[in-house]
Amino acid sequence: MRWRDWGLALLMLGALTPLARAQSSADRGEPYVPRLGDIMDGIQIRHIKLWYAGKAGNWDLAGFELHQLKTSLVEAALLYSGIPVTSVTTLSAPLQSVDDAIVAKDAKRFEKAYGELTAGCNSCHATMQRSFIAIRPPIDQPFGDQAFAPGKKE
Ligand code: HEC
Repeated sequence: MRWRDWGLALLMLGALTPLARAQSSADRGEPYVPRLGDIMDGIQIRHIKLWYAGKAGNWDLAGFELHQLKTSLVEAALLYSGIPVTSVTTLSAPLQSVDDAIVAKDAKRFEKAYGELTAGCNSCHATMQRSFIAIRPPIDQPFGDQAFAPGKKE
């Protein structure tokens, strides 16, 4: 075999290895469990979108994002028993306040409740020795491909 062929063979092996691993874990019937950090990254996206939907007065979208965020929090708590249950349950009050503000279409209440929710994120991070993961209301809208204003499609 020439050097170039060896190189190609190695490259292909490298590309195929993760696939082979994925297949073997599926063969063993193991369900896919997302990593906690990946669930949190999803929560972060919903946290940001929730803010911009609320700021734009798009209460339908805000309600949707809040639901997504809640679902991911529940998923994290169910999948990761190491997470202190109280850190999840203490979030239920601010989550409810955000929900109430959305139903009332009240921008001022929304902003206040969002601040409480964000404080809840950080207090769990502190409890779990992750205070270096500091969450705040977003200052730049990173989702340039999504319209946040109600009824706007372009
Ligand atoms: C019940 C505890 C808890 C709550 C509540 C919580 N987090 Fe986390 N979060 C964690 C833990 C633990 C980690 C570290 C995960 C790891 O080490 O892989 C984390 C990590 C993160 C990360 C970093 C992910 C990465 O891999 O870069 C982000 C972003 C994040 N959380 C956002 C949030 C936001 C936003 C909220 C609130 C809406 C929130 N979290 C609420 C426990 C929590």
